[in-house]
Order: sequence, then structure tokens, then C-alpha cells
Amino acid sequence: MNFEMTPLSLAGACQDKSDALIVLVPEGFLPGKDAISLLISHALEAKDFELKAGKMLSAYRLPGIQASRIWLVGCAQGTPAQVKTAISAVMPAIKSAQSKKMVVVFAAAPQAQAVQAALFTVAEASYVYTTTLSKPAGRKLTHLKLGVPALSEATQQSFDQAAALAMGIEVAKEWANRPANHATPTMLGDAAKMIAKGAKFTCEVLGLKEVAKLGMGSFMSVAKGSREPLRFIVMQYHGAAKTQAPVVLVGKGITFDTGGISIKPAAEMDEMKFDMSGAASVLGVFKSLSLLKPAINVVGLIPACENMPDGLAVKPGDVVTSMSGQTIEILNTDAEGRLVLCDALTYAERFKPKAVIDIATLTGACVVALGSVRSGLFATDDGLAQALLQAGEKAMDLCWRMPLDEDYAEGLKSNFADVANVGGRAGGAVTAAKFLQRFAKAFSWAHLDIAGTAWKGGAAKGATGRPVGLLMHYLLSHETTNAPKTKTSARRTQTGIA
Ligand code: BES
Ligand code: MN
Ligand code: ZN
Repeated sequence: MNFEMTPLSLAGACQDKSDALIVLVPEGFLPGKDAISLLISHALEAKDFELKAGKMLSAYRLPGIQASRIWLVGCAQGTPAQVKTAISAVMPAIKSAQSKKMVVVFAAAPQAQAVQAALFTVAEASYVYTTTLSKPAGRKLTHLKLGVPALSEATQQSFDQAAALAMGIEVAKEWANRPANHATPTMLGDAAKMIAKGAKFTCEVLGLKEVAKLGMGSFMSVAKGSREPLRFIVMQYHGAAKTQAPVVLVGKGITFDTGGISIKPAAEMDEMKFDMSGAASVLGVFKSLSLLKPAINVVGLIPACENMPDGLAVKPGDVVTSMSGQTIEILNTDAEGRLVLCDALTYAERFKPKAVIDIATLTGACVVALGSVRSGLFATDDGLAQALLQAGEKAMDLCWRMPLDEDYAEGLKSNFADVANVGGRAGGAVTAAKFLQRFAKAFSWAHLDIAGTAWKGGAAKGATGRPVGLLMHYLLSHETTNAPKTKTSARRTQTGIA
């Protein structure tokens, strides 16, 4: 999807030749002498239109209005939530009209945050997965133009940020949605290289030989059962001085989780193609970074492999040695996420990071605890936890802090290794986090369990793109003010799902 924002009065909007023109009308709107203003005034007078958020009136081929279809939509006081309601109300009509280009005009100057809300709502509603369909149904909305009475620095900045975030979210959704045979570890590595190929970026994709040399025995033990070769992806973005410690993001990249020898039941196992949603969110963040070029340093690490049962697969009771030197008794091969993440966390130490955040569809227990509304947040650093909670609120991509009391680690004790990979059914999301914490002692660390939030099941089955919004808001809050601000190219850039 392409986004653009231009100054556009209602008189100017009358000349717009698009096939879908949406006019957002707030309370207190002052009409001019143009055809759209007249339409609004007449419709309000006749009580055929109201300014409550989401109230609509549509018309076709009106004299003085070049667009073939026009929708007037009320947006009350024009708050972000009301703009979201207004646009959500009109989107089904736009979709069924099969418009390719949509123009949304704010009849009165919008709040900067409302511009973001408008863009996000359109992007969210118009994403359609088509990659593995032989005949994609219908025409896709590919272009959104936002018209505002006048461009201010604040609205421009808000728009650029929203456009970059929306494109990052789209990348995350797209990769998470792709079936496991269309999103192998190798393909994820290639995608990372495509996304991180511009100036200020580097990307390295390690294979089995390099990973073995690093001593990632835990990660390798998960990959052993699959014919698909593992990949360890290292993406770097240098937007600030080298002296500035980076934030490291670690995304769980299990491209399919059968459970391994501790195999999962058949029902809904297909959804385990989404088990690389953490990795997809890292790719999404890097896409957004490539568009916004903020003054920060970020590293993205993705341990990617399949978890399969096989004659060579790791077995319950096997003991493996992690990169940290700690030995692990694998009591359940379905608790594989923590086994790939722990080696990535140890690898993260070399960046002397300001903070490390891992993002993982880690436990069914987290879905039981928090459902699909908030991601589980675990953190060893209160400041980091606070910052992530706040970023989630701003991005409308919520999380909730969970405990890390030492008592929760009790069940992870093993008679045959330093630690076991599971600790009993109770408090499963916390014991998983306690396991990871053993490998995150060298830095300030947070863990986001997105098992409940990364995708939707049922009829609306599909990835959500979470928590790209949360992560980007967090990262942007770190932007240094002393570095020269590079002009964003988001509004001129085509979306490319690498
Ligand atoms: N990828 C799953 C977690 C998951 C399950 C996410 C269902 C979303 C929906 C993870 O690898 C897993 O299998 N975890 C086990 C851990 C258990 C064996 C301790 C789980 O949650 O059952
Ligand atoms: Mn599993
Ligand atoms: Zn898994």
C-alpha cells in the first residue's frame, strides 16, 4: 500500500478524480462555497447526515464533484478513536466498491494523532493476503491519499511515522501469514537481506557451520529433526553514533512447530506456521527503520528453524550444551522456543546492548492468562518495563507485566543438567520466562510473549502484525535529539514485501 499526504481544501477535493472520496466532517465544521460544503450543509439541514463518529452519507456522480463516489463521514470531535470509528464504518463500502485508490479528506485541520489513526485504520482494513492464491479475489486497495487543509510540521511527522509503521506491520503480517513451505528459515534469511540492504544497514545470515562454531548446541538441537537447514539472522541498523549502545531485538523464528518428538495434537496444528511471528515482527521493525531512518542503533537477531519429529530429532531426556555453557535437559521437545532463544540471548551479549527484548510466541499458558488483548511482558528492569508498557499504550498495541519471582524457577531443576526446559503446567508463561532469564543476566532484558496476540484464529485467521507498533514506539522514544534528523522517505516509497 502506498500512502501520501497533501494539502487539500474541500474546493480542491471537488476536483479530485478518484473513485472513492471520503470526507471526514467534525462537529463545528465551517462550510465554504464549494460543492462538497454545500452537500454537507444541505444534508445536515435535511437531517440526512449527522456528525456523530461513524455516521455516513454516500452519493454518486454529483455535479461539481469529479470523484465518482463520495462518502461524507461524521467524526465528532475528531479524536484518534473517533477517526478510527469513522473510517472503520466506511471501509466495508470502499472494499465492496473494489476501489484501488482512496482519498480521505479532513474537512477541518486534524490532530496529528488523528492522521495516524486514519492511516492505520485504512492499512489494517485493506490488507489482503494473496501470496499463495492462484486467483486473488477482486481488486486491492493500493493507494491512500490523505488530504488536510494545511500541512504542519506535526501532522507531517505524524504521517511519516504512521506510514512507516503501517508498512512495517504489513511486512510482519505478510511473513507470519505465509505457510511454512513458503516461509522457510532460508527464505526468512533472504527476506532479511532484502529489507536490510540500504545504507546504514548490515545483514548476515549464518548457517549450520557458523552456528556450530559459535557453540549454539541448544538451537542446533531443535533444528536437528528437520530437513530444512537452520538460519541465524543478524540484522543491524546504525542510525546513531557507534558509541551509542544498541537495542537488540530477538525474534523467535520457528517456521513450523510440530512439537517434535513430544508431538502436538492434529487440531489447529496448522496455526504453528505462525510460530515465527516474533521473527516476523523483527523484520517488520527493520522495514519501518529503513523508511524512517531514526537516530538510534538497533540489532535484530532471528534464530530460525523448524521443530520436527524425525529419526535424528532431539529426544525427551537428551541433554544439550547451550552457547552460554549451561547444560539443558530437554524434557519436552515442544518447549523449543526457549531453546533457540537462549543461544540468541547469549549471542546478544557481544553488542554490549542498552537493552535486549525478545519477542516470542512462547507459551499456550500466556494465551490462557491474557487472551488476545495484551501480550505478556516480563522484564528484569523496571525502567524498561515502564517504557514498553507506555509504548504499547501509545501504539494501541498493549502488553501486561508478569512476575519473575525466583520461586517460579523451582520446577526447572534437573538431576541431569544445569536446568530443565520445562517446569510443570502451572504458571507456564512465567516458568518459560524464568528459563530465558538465566541467559539474560548480562544486560537489561525484557521478554514479550505474543502467543495470544500475534495472530487470530477461526474465520478471521491471520497475523496481526503485533507487536511492531509497540516496538517501534519504544525504539523511537530513544531517538537522540542531537543527531541531525534525516528526512524520511516513507511517503514517497513503495511498499515492498521483501
Ligand atoms: N509455539 C508454542 C506455543 C504456543 C502454543 C503458542 C499455542 C500459541 C498457541 C510453543 O513452542 C509450545 O509448544 N509451548 C508449549 C510449552 C510446554 C511444552 C511447556 C506449550 O505452551 O504448550
Ligand atoms: Mn512448541
Ligand atoms: Zn513453538
